[in-house]
Amino acid sequence: MISVFGSHVGDEELAEIRTSIQAQWMGIGPKTKAFEEAFAKRLRLPGFAMLDSGSNSLFMAVKLLNLPAGAEVILPSLTWISCAHAVVLAGCTPVFCDVDAQTLNVTAETIAPCITTRTGAIMVVHYGGKPVRMQPILEFGFPVIEDAAHAVDSKLGDRYCGAIGAVGIYSFDAVKNLAMGEGGGLTAQDPDWIARARLLRYCGIGKSGFEASASKDRWWEYNIAEFFPKFLPNDIMASIGLAQLRKLDAHQAYRKQIWELYQREFADLGWLCRPQDPARDEQHSYFTYFVRVPGGQRDRFAKYLYAHGIYTTLRYHPLHMNPIYKSAARLPACEQLNEEGLNLPLHPNLSAADVDQVVSTVRAFSKEL
Ligand SMILES: Cc1ncc(COP(=O)(O)O)c(C=O)c1O
Repeated sequence: MISVFGSHVGDEELAEIRTSIQAQWMGIGPKTKAFEEAFAKRLRLPGFAMLDSGSNSLFMAVKLLNLPAGAEVILPSLTWISCAHAVVLAGCTPVFCDVDAQTLNVTAETIAPCITTRTGAIMVVHYGGKPVRMQPILEFGFPVIEDAAHAVDSKLGDRYCGAIGAVGIYSFDAVKNLAMGEGGGLTAQDPDWIARARLLRYCGIGKSGFEASASKDRWWEYNIAEFFPKFLPNDIMASIGLAQLRKLDAHQAYRKQIWELYQREFADLGWLCRPQDPARDEQHSYFTYFVRVPGGQRDRFAKYLYAHGIYTTLRYHPLHMNPIYKSAARLPACEQLNEEGLNLPLHPNLSAADVDQVVSTVRAFSKEL
């Protein structure tokens, strides 16, 4: 079965892990620091605090905003559960907005109807790596959290996604453009916020064993700054990340090649709506290839691909339709995408034969219509 998402790891990752094992150091340590510095340098970030997941980075991001209890955070309904969970767990209220059906991103127009006197922040998601047009959203004047989980290599103008709003988060889970199995982290415009994330990530203690200093009289004592969960990354994750970072350009080039091939090969299929290419001032990360099949044929299409060895999925089932969020919102584009959308395989672990199989099977479905 050809998988819809994936990453590619090999000897380079093993070699990095080996040096940590040989040093008998698996926890947070020199590799984590090296990854934080290298990642910040690559994306020209003011700094980067590595955490154990993108989900926990979202929670940390909301906490860093220090919003009053119950403040509303506007976010797209078409996103991963963690985005809304983070808002709720931080004591705030998620307010779901619609997305643009072509880009799957929020816009100033989809956000505006959700703004109330209780609005405290806006969370945007660069869906699939297509950059959200940030400027009109920043102009609302609320702090903006950028979820750049899909957008490690995405740029808007000369700035990397994640580095434009007040806080930006990244995910390095097993299928992201830069994959570590699990992992994540955040950047912020204010370097004090990045320092604060480092302090909070270890149960609010601030200092890990690695950082403890014998220069203090009683170096084993610690002050607990705040009640906070443990979100610590470790040097095994960071080892994989360092190797992945060195391969990022090659992986991105391959993702782009697959994307462009699909765009060409599917151009004449009248029943299939292809995703939007990046605009002139955008760099796309090509995290996923999202198509729409209008006319009630999406489910048949997905099952046809599955029967021919190709796994697909729909990211995401809109959150406002999930009973846990008890939302009465009607968001037409999200609901349309829920009926028509499908993610096709695109990742660096696809062989040329896999890509050919996807192309020929998608094209062959035309005869089924
Ligand atoms: C848009 C988005 N945000 C956040 C996350 C959470 O990241 P993680 O899996 O690292 O917790 C994901 C994961 O799939 C995601 O797709």
